[in-house]
Amino acid sequence: MTFVTRGLVSTGLILAAGLPALAQTEVKIGYALAPDSHYGVAAVRFEEVVTAETGDAFSFKHFPSSGLGGEREVIEGLQIGTIEATIVSSGTLANFVPETGVFDIPFLFRDLTHARAVLDGPIGQDILAKFDNVGLHGLAWGEQGFRHITNNRNAIQTPADVQSLKIRTMENPVHLAAFNAMGAAPTPMAWPEVISSLQQGVIDGQENPLSVIVSVKLDEVQKYLTLSGHVYSPAMLLVSKPFWEGLDDDQKAVFEKAAAEAVTAMRGYVDEVETTGVATLKERGMEVNELSPEQKAAFQEAIASAYEGYYETYGKDLVDSIVTFQ
Ligand code: PAF
Repeated sequence: MTFVTRGLVSTGLILAAGLPALAQTEVKIGYALAPDSHYGVAAVRFEEVVTAETGDAFSFKHFPSSGLGGEREVIEGLQIGTIEATIVSSGTLANFVPETGVFDIPFLFRDLTHARAVLDGPIGQDILAKFDNVGLHGLAWGEQGFRHITNNRNAIQTPADVQSLKIRTMENPVHLAAFNAMGAAPTPMAWPEVISSLQQGVIDGQENPLSVIVSVKLDEVQKYLTLSGHVYSPAMLLVSKPFWEGLDDDQKAVFEKAAAEAVTAMRGYVDEVETTGVATLKERGMEVNELSPEQKAAFQEAIASAYEGYYETYGKDLVDSIVTFQ
């Protein structure tokens, strides 16, 4: 009782003196997709863990659906310290840390388990650590799943079906080289321009994983879905370096724990949508076909010339060590 009374008295004194309440640190987190996407669930889990561990020391403000701009702009915002956190695809990451481009090489990973093991293992973690050299701090690799092609021109079975297809790619030289080698007409474009460009027929198609196709409702603007699985799509949970350096060691440990849980939530979402997404998109009216292993091999063959460039940029040894990673 004495304690409570003393507490009330001291609170009263603080209020009477007009002293400010303890300041909260704001964490603005921006991402390209909706709150009910794999990015949205990861961002919410990130906030939940930080809040559970630190009370009200941090206040999160979410900017989903590219509310702070395209992924490149948001990363630049982190570098100058106007945005604290983001979840992004690997689309523009190679512009900041060129080595990340190695994970964008088509037909590199066998399956999700292989990709997760490489990203969480020494190769992925070495590359993650390089973000500290460019005004950023990589907390963890996340993911979107394997990318598939959608378009409004025709169903795709063979490389001949993508000839001259006006397809949007991420602003990523590795993806661009692959679609050029296939004979398509790729246009690199920031995500916020993609839906209107599809609606206006500026482009015929785009490529993204089921997590994106379902959560963005790309079926509203695209007729054909080809399950090509031509490339794995990593994501990353990044914070601003100035923000990171302002945290004490205990807070850093909390943010690391929160990032690990956010990634678990993101991967859980991807696992789910990989099993239910195709049925959902068929129900919504998309025409879906899956490439057989032989058809996939024809696409691999079609982009063989791009591999020469990949080996030159990233080193054949590194590419081979990823392919053979167990
Ligand atoms: O295609 C892209 O640019 C990305 O996959 C997206 C949809 C912005 C998610 O990061």
